[in-house]
Amino acid sequence: MQKTTIAIYPSILSGDFGALAAEAKRIEAAGADAIHIDIMDGHFVPNLTLGPRAVLAIRKATSLFLDVHIMIYNPYDFVEAFVSAGADRITFHFEATEDVDDTLQFIRRCGKQAGLAFRPETSFSMIPKYLEKCDLILLMTVSPGFGGQNFMPEVVEKIRLTREYCDRHGIGQGGIIKKGMTLAPFDIQVDGGINRETAPICVQAGANILVSGSYLFHQPDLKRAIEGLRQ
Ligand code: DX5
Ligand code: ZN
Repeated sequence: MQKTTIAIYPSILSGDFGALAAEAKRIEAAGADAIHIDIMDGHFVPNLTLGPRAVLAIRKATSLFLDVHIMIYNPYDFVEAFVSAGADRITFHFEATEDVDDTLQFIRRCGKQAGLAFRPETSFSMIPKYLEKCDLILLMTVSPGFGGQNFMPEVVEKIRLTREYCDRHGIGQGGIIKKGMTLAPFDIQVDGGINRETAPICVQAGANILVSGSYLFHQPDLKRAIEGLRQ
């Protein structure tokens, strides 16, 4: 397996909604690996944020990878809209649909990466059967719905168990690692309350993609803050 590199995805939820295009350019200039865009429907989570037109506006402003996290019921029905808007990966919630397999397959058939997200209270036991059917597992480290919440340390064990399972079963990016192959490590993303204190805890447990909103956007220098988190 290759050495794990840590990717930093600023969550534009904490950016200036009056200037999404400018924020996207600022995130790109600051050296981020992708932009994380939170979509909330007011039902699956008690908050409303952006929709496909906002994703399209961000798409036009940057060539960065767009990581779209949809916290909505019936995610299948919205896949096409976010694909057309320019999402590179669509991550939906395990708890939001009965059609997890169909939705993962549909996203992949659209030529995009499919991510599967788990609320903090959802047990690790739900995760293994999806590892070979998706491109990323998102382990929420807060209750989805709002930026600026406190990191939930009880999720750390789930990160550890997920990484351990991938290592034990030879699961890397794109599937099972066969003898002689070098596959990058499977993507395990964390989202919620990620800052200088909590990032190393997650990385040590096995996360390789860190989403951060309020911490990054409250720093005076976004570029330095991203570099700091990556350490
Ligand atoms: C919360 C969202 C997060 C949010 C994280 O439901 O999924 O992406 O932006 O924000 P912070 O880093 O402030 O917890
Ligand atoms: Zn998110």
